Amino acid sequence: MPLDRDRGLFLPPARAAQLDALDEQHRVQRARASRRLVFRWVAWGALATLVGQWSLGLLHFLTPRRLGAFGGVVVAGAVESYKIGEVRVIREGKCYVVRVPEGFIALWWKCPHLGCTVPWLPNDVSEGGPPDGGDRAFTDKGHFKCPCHQSTYNRYGQIVSGPAPRPMSQFPLRVEDGKIVVDTGPDRAIIRSVARFSDATPA
Ligand code: FES
Repeated sequence: MPLDRDRGLFLPPARAAQLDALDEQHRVQRARASRRLVFRWVAWGALATLVGQWSLGLLHFLTPRRLGAFGGVVVAGAVESYKIGEVRVIREGKCYVVRVPEGFIALWWKCPHLGCTVPWLPNDVSEGGPPDGGDRAFTDKGHFKCPCHQSTYNRYGQIVSGPAPRPMSQFPLRVEDGKIVVDTGPDRAIIRSVARFSDATPA
């Protein structure tokens, strides 16, 4: 006669089998309950992630863009105040506005290599670089040159030399009532694999 495990009593075989069956039933129920708990936590986690992303998007949408400062819209002077080939630093927009023969380009001054600020060197005579064969189309000198690892870019932001993986990022630029208007900020940056003449906004 098997021993009652809990009470130390001997039980008839039929009763012992009944108790074993009950034990097994409880074990299966516990396993199911713990699986349900895991699924519930996964579902709640996914829902919380979705709600978080949606709230961030809404917050971004509702936050007003600053005017006249980085992260907002910056007015960069009158169209006719620029000469062809001119590169003007727009400090409040952390960018340069460049007058190329095809129009205007706004370039973020952050180096696409590791993020250093890239100065404009008006007298630099580094050679080469698409899309214009080294700026020779309208001038024979002047480049953006990063002080950190010497990446060099022409007026279109195209890499002439150095370790940077791509051209300088552009900001959207438009002409409004004869003025250059630049939409600045990290979320406005246009990342290009190659710079082209057509990147310029016509005057
Ligand atoms: S950060 Fe500009 S070249 Fe490295």
